[in-house]
Amino acid sequence: MSFLSASQMTGGYGKADILHGCTLTVEKGQIAVIVGPNGAGKSTAMKAVFGMLPLRSGSVTLDGDDITSLTPQDRVGRGMGFVPQVNNVFPTMSVEENLEMGAFTRRDDFRDTIEQVYELFPILREKRRQNAGELSGGQRQQVAVGRALMTKPKLLMLDEPTAGVSPIVMDELFDRIIDVARTGISILMVEQNARQALEIADVGYVLVQGANAYTDTGPALLADPEVRRTFLGG
Ligand SMILES: Nc1ncnc2c1ncn2[C@@H]1O[C@H](COP(=O)(O)OP(=O)(O)O)[C@@H](O)[C@H]1O
Ligand SMILES: [Mg+2]
Repeated sequence: MSFLSASQMTGGYGKADILHGCTLTVEKGQIAVIVGPNGAGKSTAMKAVFGMLPLRSGSVTLDGDDITSLTPQDRVGRGMGFVPQVNNVFPTMSVEENLEMGAFTRRDDFRDTIEQVYELFPILREKRRQNAGELSGGQRQQVAVGRALMTKPKLLMLDEPTAGVSPIVMDELFDRIIDVARTGISILMVEQNARQALEIADVGYVLVQGANAYTDTGPALLADPEVRRTFLGG
């Protein structure tokens, strides 16, 4: 059984279903990437995996446990960390306060985890007293990822972590995400920069209208003429 198995998810907002039998799995320490057109339901699928969207049918298991009926907070307790697409930092709080907020569910000493985040993102140590709202887009995304790491997740979920950043900053962020995966943390990530993200994907999902259109390794999807033509601009 996969480390994360979100199986046949169907559901949406109110009566309208957005997801139609969407299935996503991630193995331990692997990077899974979801790509697809705007409005395909990528963010909705992430919310469903995290428990922010009630499912009409389907199930979510993590590390062998069925967590389908758990709240997002309980899922954090089980090892999920989620960086949403928008509003993912507290702009009027300092970088360090943002990281401390990320640890709000922890009762133990989390100084060493803050240290680990600073080692992963050294610029955040330099800017630790600055308000997150004053940072560049790429630095803010580092704060958001760092904040999610504060609960020491086993599965890190990222919704468009490179949105609005330069190509160089994007490459850097992807390198850090690979570093995180190498520590054994599983990554489930939505990305608009489909080509670059699929290059680092152990598994890639092309989502269309709330359903799986293509699933394969990242490199295999990049080599698939149909996927290239339809979703990667040739
Ligand atoms: N909070 C919401 N309430 C109602 N409909 C929503 C909400 N969020 C998204 N949708 C709709 O769900 C569909 C999928 O949206 P979304 O999951 O954000 O797509 P993607 O992340 O792939 O761009 C869109 O048609 C969008 O308008
Ligand atoms: Mg989205």
